[in-house]
Amino acid sequence: MDYLKIQGPAHLSGKVKIQGAKNAALPLLALSIIARGKFTLTNLPDVADIATFLKLLGELGATYDKKAANEVVIDTKSITHQKATYDIVRTMRASILVLGPLLARFGYCEVSLPGGCAIGARPINLHIKALEAMGANITIEEGYIRAVAEDGLVGANITFDKITVTGSENAILAAALAKGTTHLYNVAKEPEVVQLCEELAKAGVMIKGIGTSMLEISGSEGELLEFAPIRVIPDRIEAGTYLCMGAITNDEISVEDICSHHLSAIIDKLEEIGFVLSVNETSITLHRAKELAPFSLTTGEYPAFPTDMQAQFMALATQCNGTSSIEEKLFENRLMHVSELQRLNANITTSGNTALIKGKSELVGTDVMATDLRASSALIIAALIARGESRVHRIYHLDRGYERLVEKLRGLGVEVSRERE
Ligand code: EPZ
Repeated sequence: MDYLKIQGPAHLSGKVKIQGAKNAALPLLALSIIARGKFTLTNLPDVADIATFLKLLGELGATYDKKAANEVVIDTKSITHQKATYDIVRTMRASILVLGPLLARFGYCEVSLPGGCAIGARPINLHIKALEAMGANITIEEGYIRAVAEDGLVGANITFDKITVTGSENAILAAALAKGTTHLYNVAKEPEVVQLCEELAKAGVMIKGIGTSMLEISGSEGELLEFAPIRVIPDRIEAGTYLCMGAITNDEISVEDICSHHLSAIIDKLEEIGFVLSVNETSITLHRAKELAPFSLTTGEYPAFPTDMQAQFMALATQCNGTSSIEEKLFENRLMHVSELQRLNANITTSGNTALIKGKSELVGTDVMATDLRASSALIIAALIARGESRVHRIYHLDRGYERLVEKLRGLGVEVSRERE
């Protein structure tokens, strides 16, 4: 396994080109299953989770051609079977996104239960409830979800008990091919869900309410869909992560090739802390703050403050003058970065899902361990301000979602190297 060696404190300058959004690309890769003919994605992030999903499509029998690091052409007409096996699904739980489209297209599929992960149990009961409402017969046997809909799926009225991003995406993908109209209530509004709906609408699926919590989808009655090449939207979480890097060292940096309106909650919080941001549609420049004020935040579904940015802001809070509070409302175990930040000398206490961070702390470099994708990026952020050398271990977590991380850090002036354990 590899680890990152970072010398702190770092002084950052310059700009970072932001990648395509991992969490938009994954449902778009699943969308290829209900496409007729060739299906092209551009601005595809070159990260491990995307490679894993392409491997899964390959195992189902699809063919794909990586035209370049950030472009793929997929053809799913050669899909020969509909089983997503445990060994792939356990490495990436977003594999669950093949459930809806495989069932809609073939009337049958088997998908391994994804199981939990470091940040929580991650149940999929709402995915299953939505597909059953559309007429699927679903059983769980030997760790596999076995779904059957021999006569195809039928449009239904579905209310999600909780807002679920991939649960919404599975239901949308299934409804697109169903017979009749589906109404989805309490559906996720994340930009990644919106892009999926917009691409379906461009392919001729009638969808009303895109971007709202209520969708009306008129299915194609089993007809596969034709898509023009799709450009994956920018990764708002990668952009927010790099903004936090500039914020913690209080240096001026810019992020480019973004959709800044996807980052409103992040921009507001950085401004509340004391940073001045120059914002236009495709780039943001962070300017130095005179003073970093403490803040409080609670994570929520879009457009509230994103849970995927919670760890990064916790690292930043260690440099704010006063006590900040962070409450994690979406996942039951997404504070594991606290103990690793404490190893860097952060002053954090937790009670339930709320953390209190006393700043300003002088962080000191040492060995820390990544536990999940976003917690890992928080450790990188903290290492930038920590005095001396930090070593972030188990960085395969980072490889899942951050493209060319060392190159981009070096481009900002960070003294960093990737080493073998
Ligand atoms: C998506 O995960 C993202 N992943 C996550 O990003 C993100 O943290 C999360 O949404 C919340 O924004 C992808 O898009 C691939 P959920 P997802 O279903 O869809 C509960 C990253 O770092 N729930 O919206 O799995 C669930 O337990 C990853 O890129 C049920 O109870 O999350 C959680 O408490 C991490 N039953 C809440 O809903 C269900 O059937 C939100 O989960 C489904 C979800």
